Amino acid sequence: MQTLLINAAAILTVSTDGANSKRGADMRDLGILEDHALLIEDGKIADFIPSVSVNKSNFEQVIDLQGKTILPGLIDCHTHSVFAGSRADEFCMKLAGATYEDIARAGGGIRVTTEATRAASAEELLNLTEKRINYFVSLGVTSVEIKSGYGLNYDEEIKILRVIKSLQAQTPVDLIPTFLGAHIIPHEYSHRRDEYISLLTDHLIPFVGQHGLAKYCDVFCEETAYSAQETDHLFKCAIKHGLIPKIHTEQFHSVGGLETALANNAVSVDHLEVLDVSQIESIAKSNTTAVLLPGVSFFLKHLYAPARLLIDFGALVALATDFNPGSSHIPNLHLIMALGALQMGMTIEETIATVTINAANAIGLEKVTGSLEPGKQADLAVLDTDNYKDLLYTIGQNLNCMTIKKGKVIYQNTGFHQ
Ligand code: NIG
Ligand code: FE
Repeated sequence: MQTLLINAAAILTVSTDGANSKRGADMRDLGILEDHALLIEDGKIADFIPSVSVNKSNFEQVIDLQGKTILPGLIDCHTHSVFAGSRADEFCMKLAGATYEDIARAGGGIRVTTEATRAASAEELLNLTEKRINYFVSLGVTSVEIKSGYGLNYDEEIKILRVIKSLQAQTPVDLIPTFLGAHIIPHEYSHRRDEYISLLTDHLIPFVGQHGLAKYCDVFCEETAYSAQETDHLFKCAIKHGLIPKIHTEQFHSVGGLETALANNAVSVDHLEVLDVSQIESIAKSNTTAVLLPGVSFFLKHLYAPARLLIDFGALVALATDFNPGSSHIPNLHLIMALGALQMGMTIEETIATVTINAANAIGLEKVTGSLEPGKQADLAVLDTDNYKDLLYTIGQNLNCMTIKKGKVIYQNTGFHQ
């Protein structure tokens, strides 16, 4: 099957010349093509054809984009999309001055969502998550990472991972599952933390690895969660069982998580609000993606990660929503990009690189998606504008009018008239 997209104002290829990642000044080069048609063949990017040499009658399907703009499908590489319940009351406590850690210490936070998620059936969780995925798709998102981490016991963690697996069978979007059994120490193990860690290493991680229920193993390394030593032990076990490390680290305090993650070749190090310069240098020297989550800083009125320094030092930087009910109840990647530009000093072009090819690196999809290069999946977002800068400038609006996954239109809104 061939589909030809014609009359785009511009095609932002985010081309990498085969490198499949962008660092430093290269992040500002989006490989923009004008006056070209994009040919999709069997779900993959086949070619870019100069508009003057296009003969429409040669192609099975032709979509006239009437001056709209093509981007690679966006990638949300860090979410906690499977959860039940609401923490709106905590949000009000935060508005009144309580911090995220105050709330966690007082028995709120992740623990509250864990109770609600345990109480929900797999079917309820599936329906809730499906709606969230549909919202992501309406924004032009075509790949999403989803973590477990609100089950925190054997059956409930597996329940969440199975929900992600069932959903993958129903949605064209690539869903990348991450096991986050080490989110916090669950309440009932608070005086027996070693027992919970043994449950993870002796039972859960082996089961998850053996049944292919997750690709990655994440740990929240923080004063109120897991120590660096515990994280290292968990990572070693994860690697043994075929899971690749990821980490939540340097969010509030530096407790050695970053160094532990880099030593274990983590695919990504996420959060990074409290980095020092030598840590920035070590990330820049590595192939690990720095996943920054400005939605959390915004939602918690906390520090922003040093995006500008990370980019200027040459680190591989991505942005993600961290969509979750407590620290970033923000599923909108466009808003996250706007925060990157407005609050972290990134250029619009850099923010686009962070949610396309660099985000693909954070979830191991860089060879198949994240940029529009021949042979890659035809995963596209079409913006209802002739100026890609409007994506951030029209803050709070959704300019995406068409989402294409593996060559198929999976979302189209009223902004799209043929
Ligand atoms: O990425 N930092 C830990 N985990 C999540 C928050 C989860 C929650 O508060 O429910 C995060 O910020
Ligand atoms: Fe997170």
